[in-house]
Amino acid sequence: METVFLGIDIGTSGTKTLAIREDGTIIGKASAEYPCFAPRPLWSEQNPDDWYSAVVKTVRQVTASAGIAPSAVRGIGLSGQMHGSVFLDAAGKVIRPAILWNDQRTVAECAEIENAVGGRAELIRLAANPAMTGFTAPKILWLRKNEPESFSRTVKVLLPKDEIRRRLTGEFATEVSDASGTLLLDVANRRWSKPLLDALELDLSLLPEVFESEDVTGKLTAAAAEELGLTTDCVVVGGAGDCAAGAVGNGIARTGLLSTSIGTSGVMFVHSDSIKIDPNGRVHTFCHAVRGKWHMMGVSLCSGGSLQWFRGALCAELRAEAEKAGADVYDWLTKEAAQTPPGAEGLYFLPYLSGERTPHADPDARGAFIGLHLNHRRGHLVRALMEGVTYSLRDSLEIFRELGVPVDEIRASGGGSKSPFWRQMQADVFGRRVTTVNTDEGPAYGVALLAAVGGGVYPGIAEACEKAVSAVSGIEPDPAAARFYDNHYPVWHRLYPALKDDFKKMSGEL
Ligand code: XUL
Repeated sequence: METVFLGIDIGTSGTKTLAIREDGTIIGKASAEYPCFAPRPLWSEQNPDDWYSAVVKTVRQVTASAGIAPSAVRGIGLSGQMHGSVFLDAAGKVIRPAILWNDQRTVAECAEIENAVGGRAELIRLAANPAMTGFTAPKILWLRKNEPESFSRTVKVLLPKDEIRRRLTGEFATEVSDASGTLLLDVANRRWSKPLLDALELDLSLLPEVFESEDVTGKLTAAAAEELGLTTDCVVVGGAGDCAAGAVGNGIARTGLLSTSIGTSGVMFVHSDSIKIDPNGRVHTFCHAVRGKWHMMGVSLCSGGSLQWFRGALCAELRAEAEKAGADVYDWLTKEAAQTPPGAEGLYFLPYLSGERTPHADPDARGAFIGLHLNHRRGHLVRALMEGVTYSLRDSLEIFRELGVPVDEIRASGGGSKSPFWRQMQADVFGRRVTTVNTDEGPAYGVALLAAVGGGVYPGIAEACEKAVSAVSGIEPDPAAARFYDNHYPVWHRLYPALKDDFKKMSGEL
């Protein structure tokens, strides 16, 4: 009988579920959306019941549409938005809406954490990362201070995908890649950090057990099996946070491989056999979903998001025309950009429309076009925007280089990388060959492969990636363009420090 594994990604805008055969072939997929709430400015919350309904719906859709028998599904891998906090009481009830990764309410708690452990450098030594407003630990401290009654009833705090695991298996469990983003993990030793928990006066019992990503964490309960239309023999493996899961889906499971992803945000993700930590905390160091390995990651908050903004704010007429012609307005915009030369005739763009995380970690940073003159047309603006986004990804690459993390191959993914023009620009700005792989299904695919490892099909995730994921096309850098970008990247890089203090003043005027 056929053997099938499911990958489920509990994202911010929706949940995506897909089914694969043992060899990694995709045989079905479905997705379902849900809302995100902002009860106050800078807050971002979701209802875990919405995630669970989307999981049930998409699993049923996938199995029905692909004609998969319940007993064929041997394992499930879970992925999800990282850092979110689900607070549970002793009866297993969700106490308040989950606070998400993109919630910015915890500036004060981040400072509190650094002070409690004896400074930023000590925090980076203990947790491999500095405190960021999106991370989980500051959210727990926020609850303790601002909603003490809710905190007093909290017996467990779970990440989004781990709350789904609890509903599916009855187990309180997480895995190393997602746990790394809580700021409570001893990332070097892949276990909860007692010194950190003590310094923050948090009890270890609040946290679930930590597994490696491919480990089996439980089986479906009878109730969950019935709801999903599966059997109680189906195992659930650790899975991974969405960044590590997406990278695994791109085959980033051995040294030398780096993936770039241009979605709303931009992620530079590199595998590392040994733990390397940026003493300045500019890039994240997390455990990888590969047993005993790590990864480093730079996150630009507004990559494809900058082009989405440009299209929405400045291209209403062009959009209408493109729609009438049955064309994609992004294709028209990139065509105009391609007609202008590298450097857009002296125009630069800073893509900090949502503030920034890597390398500046500055919520007050702002977007900017710099160097405008009368000859500039829309194509110049689009080209400068795409170059600014790509330079900001290069910032992460430079930090990886500085820390001695090997990079031999760059694999491009995400909506932005579907454009051959933007892929060529990445090759030119990075000065490296940029490839694409045979699948672009994101995190759900990566965790479906992890489920196949947990189900005993492959000895490890590196072997699963070797079998299922391969590079299908490659673009070499154009030597003249690469030289040009090498000369101009330092000019671009100096713009943010020059404007930093004034950005702070401007953000007060919002
Ligand atoms: C990673 C991060 C986001 C979320 C949402 O650090 O904050 O990628 O995981 O997808």
